[in-house]
Amino acid sequence: MNALAVDVANWDAFLAAPPSDKLEFFRKDGRLYDCLFSQQFDRALIDRLCGLADHMRSVTKTRAGDDFLRGLLSHRRAMLYFSQPSTRTFLSHMSACHILGLKVMEIRDLKTSSEVKGESQDDTIRTFASYVDLIIMRHHGAGVAERAAWTLNRSDRPVPVVNAGSGADQHPTQALLDVYSLKRYLGGVDGKHIVMVGDLKRGRTVRSLSYLMKNFKDVRLTFAAPPAFAMNPDILDFLRRHGIPFSETTDLDTALPDADAVYMTRIQDEHDQGGESAKVDYSPFHLNSLRMGLLPKHAVVLHPLPRREEIPAELDGDPRVVVFRQERNGMWIRAALIAHIFGLDDAILARKP
Ligand code: NCD
Repeated sequence: MNALAVDVANWDAFLAAPPSDKLEFFRKDGRLYDCLFSQQFDRALIDRLCGLADHMRSVTKTRAGDDFLRGLLSHRRAMLYFSQPSTRTFLSHMSACHILGLKVMEIRDLKTSSEVKGESQDDTIRTFASYVDLIIMRHHGAGVAERAAWTLNRSDRPVPVVNAGSGADQHPTQALLDVYSLKRYLGGVDGKHIVMVGDLKRGRTVRSLSYLMKNFKDVRLTFAAPPAFAMNPDILDFLRRHGIPFSETTDLDTALPDADAVYMTRIQDEHDQGGESAKVDYSPFHLNSLRMGLLPKHAVVLHPLPRREEIPAELDGDPRVVVFRQERNGMWIRAALIAHIFGLDDAILARKP
């Protein structure tokens, strides 16, 4: 902890410090401990987790392999604490815990938590840590997961924290499953042209995915969004600093013909402050059969889901639309991440499928 460039005792200073100054604080025993933001992942770790996820998939093909994995963390418990709606992220994390044998508890409705009696967020988190060995949390507040990890790492009972979505800020495990999906369906991310489409301003998935791009060679990004929902300048600055070429457009059709992957998003109108979503014509950022005709045969269409009109269900039969396979990949990469946090990689990789 002494090696940290940031004042750990002062939350405001800690929060404001660049992610690179905090990496060590969120690591333990030489590996990732808390998973809070995409900048924590380097290429070696991404490759390791994807390999581990693939291996876990094959190990579970037999009953004996499945039982083996389920024995690894059967002595541990996890808390799923979700203050925002979630289907996939919740179920895939829960399933990932089941794969490793973790027993899970959940709070999804804050009205059932003593926070309504005025308990502080810090006390709530410390209370979870009294009962469980892992906290997976989605919170409407940006920085709340980081605060939880900061609080616990300075307490006498730290447990790892996984950020399952923090406000409009980050969603690092989603970015991991997106990259894992790109590896599975395109053979990798290096050299690829990825077109991110939709409400890029308020979507946390495209932010976390953009941060992960620093780990790949010769990636090109195109951001296709209505002007009101263009990608935020902090992400564009990050890409410039890391020498990742990008362009911005309001014309999706011009970006499609040389895309390797199209990453669709829905309009994030839950973040509206005065009906701004309703003022935007979002239809130029919807896929349809005409636009699918512009997309190369080898390309894939991803979406973190839930979707609305941006990928009509009629397109689901197109083999390039891999969104339901993508969501299933989320379970495996999250199982790999949890296994890694608990230091189980080598034991799992040593097990023959
Ligand atoms: C995303 C999220 O919650 O940020 N969904 C998800 O986790 N799969 C995207 C969204 O809600 O639009």
